Amino acid sequence: MSDKVIPIRVAGAPSAPGVDMPAPYAGGALRDLRGRRLRDLRISVTDRCNFRCIYCMPRAVFDSDYRFLPHSAILSFEEIARLARVFVAMGVEKLRLTGGEPLVRRDLDRLIAMLAETGVDIALTTNGSLLAKQARALKAAGLQRVTVSLDSLDDATFRAMNDADYPVARVLEGIDAAAAAGLAPIKINMVVKRGTNDHQIVDAARHWRGSGHILRFIEFMDVGSTNGWRMDDVVPSGDVVRRISEVFPLVPLEASYSGEVAERWRYVDGGGEIGVISSVTQAFCSECTRLRLSTEGKLFTCLFAEHGHDLMPLLRGGASDEVLRDAIAAVWLPRNDRYSEIRTAETAKQRKVEMSYIGG
Ligand code: GTP
Ligand code: 5AD
Ligand code: SF4
Ligand code: SF4
Repeated sequence: MSDKVIPIRVAGAPSAPGVDMPAPYAGGALRDLRGRRLRDLRISVTDRCNFRCIYCMPRAVFDSDYRFLPHSAILSFEEIARLARVFVAMGVEKLRLTGGEPLVRRDLDRLIAMLAETGVDIALTTNGSLLAKQARALKAAGLQRVTVSLDSLDDATFRAMNDADYPVARVLEGIDAAAAAGLAPIKINMVVKRGTNDHQIVDAARHWRGSGHILRFIEFMDVGSTNGWRMDDVVPSGDVVRRISEVFPLVPLEASYSGEVAERWRYVDGGGEIGVISSVTQAFCSECTRLRLSTEGKLFTCLFAEHGHDLMPLLRGGASDEVLRDAIAAVWLPRNDRYSEIRTAETAKQRKVEMSYIGG
């Protein structure tokens, strides 16, 4: 995956004794080169998944010969929780667990209980296949809400897209279990790929209207280097909104927080809201407050990065929390990423980290 690693230089950051953050880091004061603060940490807990979605883990690449990370290379729950505490002290307000498929990591509820001690918002993005079994335990551990990926309500289309012959009904059971457990608001992510599931946009809107869940349409992105992305396969969010509006009129809504990835729309008739995530046609880099932590302890400052910054040598080399904090600051301060704003057909071909490795 990311074979080259950028060494972390710890420079210029004052170290203070004790657990308090020195003034330049406290309360989200840390800014990158574009003035963006560090607010969301997305933690990938595994690079494995029981699906092989065609746009994410094409089976031809992620086959039986594919070498996933060995257990010894991945962060333990204790290591993740320790890093999360450092991040929260630096102003991070939201932790989102991702994968691969996060629920294939054993005893994930134990990690959630550890993270819940930080007191910040904790969410999870999942394919839903293991939710029916785990929803109650996750909620009891302190998980607040889930986002479930479901690209189609038509069984044949969904099975073709997850390429694991996984039926829609089982994901719906997972969503119901999450709702029953109180993991709300539930968001449903639908990646739209032209010619594959775009004929089901209105069906999906019809199905989820009035359910209390929020359906979000995601433009197919050129993440990673294996999904064969082509601009022609992208259905612009503007078209999605137009197609739905013709049947169920929509009006725009304000973002619920600054830097929200999804643009929100409300059904005029009170059927609830939808979101569109338009990384390709309407980049949102200028407000990107997200940092990603890979399963093996590397920090990625952009979803489309090629390289990560490895925290493992510090973590396993006995570094103090202050040294970890300075290392994180040394990654964030020079951050200048804005991939979606500068995407071209050429950049789309560059080598980039895989989505299943870094989480969405
Ligand atoms: P909430 O607003 O808290 O619900 O979270 P979210 O919308 O950030 O979470 P979610 O994981 O559901 O994100 C939705 C999808 O948007 C992701 O799965 C990605 O496909 C995409 N996405 C999220 N963050 C970024 C980002 O920084 N850059 C790009 N290009 N896409 C992103
Ligand atoms: N383009 C857009 N969204 C993607 N996801 C995975 N790969 C892609 C891609 N190439 C979505 C998943 C899930 C979230 C983690 O990211 O469907 O909802
Ligand atoms: Fe697995 Fe999610 Fe990737 Fe699909 S999109 S292969 S469910 S990690
Ligand atoms: Fe942030 Fe990179 Fe996504 Fe832009 S492309 S929003 S910088 S993660």
